[in-house]
Amino acid sequence: MNNRIGFIGGGNMATSLIGGIVSQGDTPADCIWVFEPNAEKSQVLAATFGINVASDNAELIANSDIVVIAVKPQVLEQVLTPNAQSFGDAKPLIVSVVAGISASSIEKWLEGDFSIIRVMPNTPALIGMGASGLYANHRVDQEQRDAVSKLLNTVGVSVWVNSEADIDAVTALSGSGPAYFMLFIQGLIEAAEAAGLSAEAAKLLAVQTASGAAQLISSSDTPLQTLIDNVTSPNGTTEKALQSFNDANLKIVIATAFEAARTRSVELAKELG
Ligand SMILES: NC(=O)c1ccc[n+]([C@@H]2O[C@H](COP(=O)([O-])OP(=O)(O)OC[C@H]3O[C@@H](n4cnc5c(N)ncnc54)[C@H](OP(=O)(O)O)[C@@H]3O)[C@@H](O)[C@H]2O)c1
Repeated sequence: MNNRIGFIGGGNMATSLIGGIVSQGDTPADCIWVFEPNAEKSQVLAATFGINVASDNAELIANSDIVVIAVKPQVLEQVLTPNAQSFGDAKPLIVSVVAGISASSIEKWLEGDFSIIRVMPNTPALIGMGASGLYANHRVDQEQRDAVSKLLNTVGVSVWVNSEADIDAVTALSGSGPAYFMLFIQGLIEAAEAAGLSAEAAKLLAVQTASGAAQLISSSDTPLQTLIDNVTSPNGTTEKALQSFNDANLKIVIATAFEAARTRSVELAKELG
C-alpha cells in the first residue's frame, strides 16, 4: 500500500519535494495532500501536480501516514500546538525539513512521543540536484527510514547521520554550501572580467568549470588530490594559483567559515526551540 503523504506548508521546499515525488511516479498524486494558508498557492499546487488540498492542517494530518512539515522555523510552534490532538490521534511519521528545530522541541509542542525524521535539504533540490542530511529519532523503524530516503532521493541525494548534532555539520556543509560555491564562482567571474573577458563568457566558463570539476570528482574513484595534481604541471599556471591560495591560507579560511556556520546552527536551535 502507498504511504499517504501530507505537506504542512506549500512553499519552495514543499513544491520541489512534491514535484520530485510526483515525477518519480511511485506515489500516486491522489495519495499526496497539502495544506497552505495561501489559497492561491494551494490551487497552483493542485492544478500543477493533481494533489489534494486539505481545508486545514487537522484534515491533512488525519489523511496522512507521513506528515512533512515545511513551514518557516519562526512559525513552527504556533503551527504545531493547536494540532497536537490531531497528531496524537493519527500518530503519523513526522518528517521535518524545518532548519534548526530539534526533534525534542517538536515532541514538546505536540505533547507526546513521535517517530520524527529531521531533514536538512538545500536549494538545488528545487532543480532535482539537492543534497540532504537525514536524522531519525530512536522511534523510527527501518521501513520508515527507507520510505523517507526514497522521498528525498527524488530531489537529489541523501545521507543519514547518526546523531542529531551532526545535522548542524550538515547545515554548515550542504545546507549553506551552495552559497559558498556560488561565491567562489562569483569571485572567478569578477577576476576574469577584470582581465578582459566579457561577463557572458566569464560566467559560462566559470559555471561549466565548477560543474565539470564536480562531475569529474563524482564519476571517478581517483583520489581528489590526484585529480588536482592532474591539472597541475610543475611551474605551470595552476601551480601558481594554488600557491597563491595556499599563501592566503585558503583551507583555514574554509574551515573557519564552516565552523562559523555550524556554531550559528547550534545557536539558532537554542533560540528557536
Ligand atoms: N528553501 C530551502 O532551500 C531550504 C533549505 C533547507 C531547509 N529549508 C527549510 O524548509 C522550510 C520551508 O522553507 P521554504 O523555503 O519552503 O519556505 P516558504 O517558501 O516560506 O514556505 C513555507 C510555507 O508555509 C506556509 N505556512 C505558514 N503558516 C502555515 C500553517 N499554519 N500551515 C501550513 N502552512 C503554513 C507559508 O504560507 P504563507 O507564505 O502564506 O505564510 C509558506 O507557503 C523552512 O523551515 C526552512 O528552514 C528550506
